[in-house]
Amino acid sequence: MQQASASAPGKLMLLGEHAVIYNRSCLVTAVDLRVHVRMEKTERYITINSSTTEQEYCFTRSELLSFNQAIPEEISFVLAAIVLILEKYNMYHGIHVITKGPKNSFGLGSSSAVTVATVRAMSEILELSLSQREIFDLSYQAVLNVQGKASGFDLAAAVYGGTLYFCNARKEIIPLGVKKVPIVIGFSGSKANTVDLVNAVSRLYNKYPWAIESIFDLIQWIVDEAKGKIISNEWEDIGKLMNLNQGLLDSLGVNTLSLSRIIFSAREAGALGAKLSGAGGGDCMFALVKEETRALVRKAMEEAGAQIVDLDSNVAGVRIEEITSER
Ligand code: MEV
Repeated sequence: MQQASASAPGKLMLLGEHAVIYNRSCLVTAVDLRVHVRMEKTERYITINSSTTEQEYCFTRSELLSFNQAIPEEISFVLAAIVLILEKYNMYHGIHVITKGPKNSFGLGSSSAVTVATVRAMSEILELSLSQREIFDLSYQAVLNVQGKASGFDLAAAVYGGTLYFCNARKEIIPLGVKKVPIVIGFSGSKANTVDLVNAVSRLYNKYPWAIESIFDLIQWIVDEAKGKIISNEWEDIGKLMNLNQGLLDSLGVNTLSLSRIIFSAREAGALGAKLSGAGGGDCMFALVKEETRALVRKAMEEAGAQIVDLDSNVAGVRIEEITSER
């Protein structure tokens, strides 16, 4: 095949962030923030055209091996995935790539989505029939090649879609068959730096290993308890478990005043539970709502400074898209 186009969704961490890096589990849902990757086989060069940076990057195969110039994050993930696959399958094509994603991704997984969509589009044009697990494994390796440390939960959401129970240490990616997750997502207004926050938690871990291990064990318990409850739609219980998880994230030092204001306002307006999502330090939080209080909770979150992010959750994972004439 000469050309292919694939898209993959973003993610919202429901429960278990940070602990998931320390071999515990988490729950994650895929959100409708799709990144599209269109690809064409060429003779020699690897060119990447990104709608986010509005620039084209061009590499020769020999340059790739010694390339150490700073490039934008999105480009480095696309490149890492392409190089990994070409080398693994001993292929010598050039590839032309066009990526198209949302201008603001609110920390909801655009890097994972672009990596997974790249792997899927590559597998199509190179006619490799890869399973979901193989797409996940290649994407995870590409991400590790770029950033060194990650749990991979966001890649699992981008590959499988829906709502998942994820544990990298046990190689478990379990789709939960959930019909809907009734949430309101709020952006706190500031962007977080995941690597800095992961490092801060790691310093705390090194200082108080016993205490932090105990916190991670509690988070693991919350995730396991919520897994059963989410399958049977026991939202009131899930809300309580979210609040417990939020308290533990606060104790890890990743909460902020602006996230807290939005979280407490949501709870006071009738949310069943509210917590930050992801690394913390900014980015997004979400509230679990009953339909009758959704409007009130939204309003309270806005008044507390949140930008509401209207996205469907529990959406489909990576897929091949039809090629349109628009470039
Ligand atoms: C960031 O969205 C979630 C973390 O657990 C990092 C990861 O799992 O890769 C903090």
